[in-house]
Amino acid sequence: MTRILFYLEDYSHDIWRDSLLKVAPNIEFRSYPDWGTPSDGPAYAFVWEPKPGLLAKYPNIKAVFSLGAGVDHLTRDPDLPPNLPIIRMGDDGLREGMAEFVAMSVLMHHRGIPSMITKQRNKDWGRFFAPAAKHVRVGILGFGALGQVAAKTLLPFGYKVAAWSRTEKEPVEGITLHHGADSLDAFISDTDILVGLLPSTAETQGLLNKKRLSLLPKGASIVNAGRGTLIVLDDLKALMEEGHIAGATLDVFPEEPLPRDHPLWGLDNLIITPHIAAITRPDTAAEYVMRNIARIEQGNAPENLLDANRGY
Ligand code: NAP
Ligand code: GLV
Repeated sequence: MTRILFYLEDYSHDIWRDSLLKVAPNIEFRSYPDWGTPSDGPAYAFVWEPKPGLLAKYPNIKAVFSLGAGVDHLTRDPDLPPNLPIIRMGDDGLREGMAEFVAMSVLMHHRGIPSMITKQRNKDWGRFFAPAAKHVRVGILGFGALGQVAAKTLLPFGYKVAAWSRTEKEPVEGITLHHGADSLDAFISDTDILVGLLPSTAETQGLLNKKRLSLLPKGASIVNAGRGTLIVLDDLKALMEEGHIAGATLDVFPEEPLPRDHPLWGLDNLIITPHIAAITRPDTAAEYVMRNIARIEQGNAPENLLDANRGY
């Protein structure tokens, strides 16, 4: 019998158990802390932000499914057993959620909504006349599962969409593609609304520092829904205060929750969302996890297996 060891704080485990049992009625679903003992036999972990050291206590775990696309919540555990296969989430629900969030955020910055929220607080009728979408350049950092769906979602509005990835991609109609570290500065210079959809890795941490953020044209905006480590927040704050960057939407932060005394909370033209851009949805995720357990059991590689060398 397939045994699943489930860990998630702040959310009903019953919904997840019901969704998994609907797809696979014969599994054994064990909700933390009722994980039993390693001698109970082989198991798969399905977890989000497990306590450091927890996975190491269960050598019977054959593979770990991340409840999200990101795996930094696992790899930062110093006791994570080496060679434990980690599978990243890649269900349709995550892609749909991110497409909604990116479309909403890009439209808001294009139409000047963050500055209007600031003006509203001051009872200021100051109007903002937005350019036509066809004159707005949206640049997406990351052209993986989420970057691709976000880019395609923006096309029908008429935006000029470009995307940047680590490796070269097959051409996609309507999207200008760039890759590699050498092309990043030119990519940023040509962007009016920059969207971060990158994983947190040694290469992406601090990538958007003062030097790079200053390359954005004056009046540009930023949306970050990848990982908070991408942006040096003090540099972003300084450039927003001096008016070089007109607005930002940040869904992810180096420290979450964002501390209550953090200066970003009071910054004009900044929208803060509490890491909700794309939440894994139980119905689609249950199907994804059970499909991939079947692949592993049949001796095949699962989808979206973490490549430890790349870090995503
Ligand atoms: P993915 O399919 O692995 O795509 C990652 C993309 O980033 C790829 O295009 C990759 O390039 C690119 N990349 C990685 N390192 C790079 C580098 N050094 N330089 C240039 N490009 C680089 O991941 P995904 O499913 O799209 O998810 C992306 C991230 O979104 C996740 O890792 C997670 O952190 C975040 N996320 C956030 C939320 C939220 O609610 N805020 C929800 C889900 C996911 P290649 O294609 O060339 O490899
Ligand atoms: C959410 O942040 C995820 O990684 O899926």
